[in-house]
Amino acid sequence: MNKIRAGVIGVGLMGRLYGRLLKELPQAELTAVFDVDAELAARVGTELGAKACASVEDLLNQVDAVFVCSPDRAHLEPVLAAAAAGKHVFVEKPLATRSEEGLQMVEAADKAGIVFMVGHVLRFDPRYIHARNAVAEGDVGEVVHMFARRNTYIDQGRHYASWTTVPWFLGIHDIDVLMWICGSPIVSVYARGARKLLAAKGADDSVLAVLTFANGAIAGLEVSFVLPLVQGNRQSPLLEVVGSEGMIHVMPYLRGITIHKADGLVEPDPLYNMGPVMHGQIAGVYKEETVHFLRCIQEGITPAVTGRDALLAVTVVEALERSLASGREEKVVAITS
Ligand SMILES: NC(=O)c1ccc[n+]([C@@H]2O[C@H](COP(=O)([O-])OP(=O)(O)OC[C@H]3O[C@@H](n4cnc5c(N)ncnc54)[C@H](O)[C@@H]3O)[C@@H](O)[C@H]2O)c1
Repeated sequence: MNKIRAGVIGVGLMGRLYGRLLKELPQAELTAVFDVDAELAARVGTELGAKACASVEDLLNQVDAVFVCSPDRAHLEPVLAAAAAGKHVFVEKPLATRSEEGLQMVEAADKAGIVFMVGHVLRFDPRYIHARNAVAEGDVGEVVHMFARRNTYIDQGRHYASWTTVPWFLGIHDIDVLMWICGSPIVSVYARGARKLLAAKGADDSVLAVLTFANGAIAGLEVSFVLPLVQGNRQSPLLEVVGSEGMIHVMPYLRGITIHKADGLVEPDPLYNMGPVMHGQIAGVYKEETVHFLRCIQEGITPAVTGRDALLAVTVVEALERSLASGREEKVVAITS
């Protein structure tokens, strides 16, 4: 089978990671990269052996599939251009930060008949997959309530608060999997934010929200951009599901390894790797996600995360942001063609 010629738009943290994965995977060939920062594109192109293109149009001429890894508010144009050119699209989460734009992308992908997948990577984390399967198989009975947490360090928070918010950047991951695991959409959101360390950027440090599902279940969500950079401090993502007949604890913060070095403690993450870790190649959830997208193209199957799944999560974060602004519980407003 011919290799899938792939390109990456936006070669920051995530774009460079997918570029490296595409270079390593035998079923793909990284042919082109593009970034508004032409110097960065040239550097990453040289590093990964791909052409640094001067425009999105130029890139689209060299590929069968594209990975859109530009900032959240810069997904629409490249996705629409790729769909119009009949190229398959993987776009990072959140699909969009306005549901109207998300719907435009979903409709363009439908019309073009391309494979369209969104990077909700928790759906490729084996622990979250086990949780979903356990609920679907009735192992914990009826879901009563859930709790999800995701947080990152203040240096990351400072970088990302310049173009996104903590619910859009981190919360949307858990909002997507909570609905996937519960098997029911979120219908309303009540959220509160604390604004101290990132106040100068006009951003919330941390947000807590109560989510209500159509089937009557509820969930608590805690997301933060401001974990202090102190020795031994770790990110503490988790998921708990309380059901009528059982419980699930997902504990990704227990990484399973600690390395005590002379200059400090290190806890490598075995699944969310950003570098070569297994005999010289990147392993983990981002590899699984990329392999799945390529398989969908080769076998003509529907991705595990569709554009419409991702659009649903966008409408929930919109309601969450409205709740932060209004101080009231806000209903999720569905958007359909
Ligand atoms: N799935 C995950 O775990 C995960 C983690 C981090 C970020 N993300 C998402 O991935 C996307 C990229 O985030 P990142 O962390 O790589 O950000 P980043 O800031 O490291 O990189 C973004 C890159 O996009 C470039 N860019 C800006 N505007 C552009 C445009 N219009 N066209 C092309 N390139 C443009 C920038 O120059 C930069 O190099 C975002 O949507 C983000 O929310 C997902």
